[in-house]
Amino acid sequence: MTRLTILTAPDSRLKRKALPVPAVTDAVRRLMENMAETMYYAQGIGLAATQVGVTQRVIVVDVEYAKKDGKRSPIFLANPEIIRQDGEIVWNEGCLSVPEHTSDVTRSAQIQVKGLNQHGQEVIIDADDVLAVCFQHEIDHLDGILFIDHISRLKRSIILQKLKKKKQNEE
Ligand code: NI
Repeated sequence: MTRLTILTAPDSRLKRKALPVPAVTDAVRRLMENMAETMYYAQGIGLAATQVGVTQRVIVVDVEYAKKDGKRSPIFLANPEIIRQDGEIVWNEGCLSVPEHTSDVTRSAQIQVKGLNQHGQEVIIDADDVLAVCFQHEIDHLDGILFIDHISRLKRSIILQKLKKKKQNEE
């Protein structure tokens, strides 16, 4: 498995809209595995292909990892789609592509997600709480949307300015 480089904002590649994968091939499975490896290493609970510069609709989430003493149980989805949503939840979100910043975001509290698993089978997952938040956050990435796009313009521009400065210092 290979650890991939996670893009951080501001980066125009994070704004690209990802394309559906025609089928879950070995190459897609390899991408899923590498994304999981990357996510666990970075101690994230979700990762979208967009964040590693791949414009395919593929995500991995594992919100239980921290709770289960490091036991990995990743959920892989290709072409994920929210087919039902209900209620409202406010969650203090962070993102591996927006390092060191968090913000409250309002999302649907209960959702149903449809997609293809790593075996290419169609699955439907009911999610609430942090899992629902995580799916919505990752699917947003596939459409080029970051959690900071859900907050006020002023707060977003402050965060982006800080991230830009941080990048310049690292160069
Ligand atoms: Ni994210």
